[in-house]
Amino acid sequence: MTHYNKPLFKRNRQIADAFALSASTVVYPGDCLDLLKSIPDESLQLVVTSPPYNIGKEYEKKLHLDAYLQQQARVISECVRSLSHKGSICWQVGNYVDRGAIIPLDTVLCPIFSDLGLRMRNRIIWHFEHGLHCSRRFSGRYETIMWFTKSDDYIFNLDPVRIPQKYPGKKYFKGPKAGQYSCNPLGKNPGDLWMIPNVKSNHVEKTEHPCQFPVELIERLVLSLTEEDDWVLDPFLGTGTTLIAAIRHQRRGVGAETVPKYAELARKRIRQEMEGALRTRPMDRPIYDPVESGNSLIIAPWKKNTDQPMLFERSPKYGRKAAR
Ligand SMILES: C[S@@+](CC[C@H](N)C(=O)[O-])C[C@H]1O[C@@H](n2cnc3c(N)ncnc32)[C@H](O)[C@@H]1O
Repeated sequence: MTHYNKPLFKRNRQIADAFALSASTVVYPGDCLDLLKSIPDESLQLVVTSPPYNIGKEYEKKLHLDAYLQQQARVISECVRSLSHKGSICWQVGNYVDRGAIIPLDTVLCPIFSDLGLRMRNRIIWHFEHGLHCSRRFSGRYETIMWFTKSDDYIFNLDPVRIPQKYPGKKYFKGPKAGQYSCNPLGKNPGDLWMIPNVKSNHVEKTEHPCQFPVELIERLVLSLTEEDDWVLDPFLGTGTTLIAAIRHQRRGVGAETVPKYAELARKRIRQEMEGALRTRPMDRPIYDPVESGNSLIIAPWKKNTDQPMLFERSPKYGRKAAR
């Protein structure tokens, strides 16, 4: 990426604590509804956030689901007012859990967006491999990003977020293009199932915040749904991840955070990003594969030093060859 990490652009930045169209980076230490009052109509190109899930984390008061949805509706409605005609909103959510029963939050939040006239473009499945181990249901290993646009005339730049082709050497075998490569040399569309590690204890981006999203997840949205210099808002900023992704790609960023220690953490990480000192997981790094990387822990201790074949190798019922 040629425009990645331009030091001049970064050096000129200040972190403001109130919104102004002349600013470039704003961390508002307070309630997002108060921040939104200061943002003019149709001035933002992208709103991307992971709101509180109403599951009793230290930064939220667990509400009745209806009260939570009303609260979300007020914020969403203000975000839509501030969003440009060509703009996008990405709401990243998981499950609300009530006495062991789950309610996927996207299913109950979706009508709020459609009632405001927004159009859904993708419901992206963000798959990751770490999390709570459930004993009475299958462990949750994905969350979703609902992507809505305000109109049909929206910005969507696919080329900066293309990923490597599975078969880059594949050619047309017949027709006028026979013998030519059949795939786009810039890579393929990443699709709507994104496998990106979540920020748990071993992740390079982990802070004391209990639920950060990874910078690379937001970089993909910033690059595809905005242009340089556009405004990106995160109403529930947490540790500043959205602003880091925006700054990295020469966009302006604004966010609100009510908890002072997280607002300070966001400022600290943003300053590190501006100085080129923030360590993050790169967008183009493949998912860690313990088998390919020869990790010795992949063999269970009770399997070591035995010649006993694995279940799948042993039984013809489960296939002819060893399954990996
Ligand atoms: C799920 S976390 C977001 C984490 C963020 N995506 C990150 O990567 O660090 C939600 C955050 O919203 C903050 N918050 C909750 N209610 C808020 C409000 N009304 N206005 C602003 N921030 C709020 C919480 O303190 C919490 O840090």
